Amino acid sequence: MEELQVQHRLTSHLNLIEVPSSHEERAFSHAVADGLSKQQKSLPCRYFYDLAGSKLFEQICGLPEYYLTRTEQKIFVDHSNDIIDAVGHELAIVEFGSGNSVKTRLLINAALNRQEHLHYIPVDISSGFLKSSSHALLGEIDRLSITAIAAEYADAIPIIPAPKEPRLFLFIGSNIGNFNRVEAVTFIAKIREQMHSRDRLLVSFDLVKSVHILEAAYNDSSGVTAAFNKNLLMRINRELGGSFILSEFDHFAPFVKLDSRIEMRLISRCPQHVHINKLQRGFTFQQGEYIHTEDSHKYTLESFTEICSAAGLEIQNRWLDKREWFAVALLRSKKI
Ligand code: AVI
Repeated sequence: MEELQVQHRLTSHLNLIEVPSSHEERAFSHAVADGLSKQQKSLPCRYFYDLAGSKLFEQICGLPEYYLTRTEQKIFVDHSNDIIDAVGHELAIVEFGSGNSVKTRLLINAALNRQEHLHYIPVDISSGFLKSSSHALLGEIDRLSITAIAAEYADAIPIIPAPKEPRLFLFIGSNIGNFNRVEAVTFIAKIREQMHSRDRLLVSFDLVKSVHILEAAYNDSSGVTAAFNKNLLMRINRELGGSFILSEFDHFAPFVKLDSRIEMRLISRCPQHVHINKLQRGFTFQQGEYIHTEDSHKYTLESFTEICSAAGLEIQNRWLDKREWFAVALLRSKKI
């Protein structure tokens, strides 16, 4: 009987909107063909996250060297109530990401300490992740209703519901760091276009710190980040019939000071030729030549403020951990 009641609550409080991806099926093969044909070979980091890659990323988050997840989480443990108070109204929460994290729960609970009911709107490309994380949230938390949007972020932004209460948009997990400057400004500006005067955007980002700490986080001693990086080559082998020999590539992720970012690289250990059946072509690698697979930008408060400003937003409040390694910023529209 109890189970039946729960089932009913799960379905009646969950509304799923699915927007077909504007990226076609062939997008992966196109991206691989394009990226490996460039003078500086590269592959887009969005393709890290197949099932195996997502599991490896979860492992990364728990590594002793990978301070980001723990540090961010501590900020939310300490300040979720302050964040909700700073928005200052009964609100709805919109999250870019599936809402699968402890941080999301902390914010949802902080909001429900202040208001009777919460409308939570997660946006994620994977409808599978959205369904499972939404069901988990509804199973755990009362007084919650969910509108889940399965779509690319850019496709979702214009169709996000605008309930009568102000919205707190979340883009946490320091995901902004994986965008280049133009992508970061464009994404924030797109959200800004939809924001009403009482809406706010919460963004978390990693701060510049000692090179030693930064590089240890992306070159961990147990080799999990290396496996995560090389999973891209496994995907190419499996999905596109590639002939990459994983042991012929080394993972290396240096901090490039000039661009203030960690660059994830896969370095060819020897001269070699890799054939990709589905592309009906091959690619040659010199010894020491590398594929650039991801950027993870590290900001100062000034450089992050400048990006927000270029997107038409300003920092209303910000919270840092004690060591000042990581930051969470609450943004509002700049007054014109
Ligand atoms: C998802 N993103 C914030 C991670 C980062 O730190 O840039 C991805 C990652 N790449 C290597 N390790 C973790």
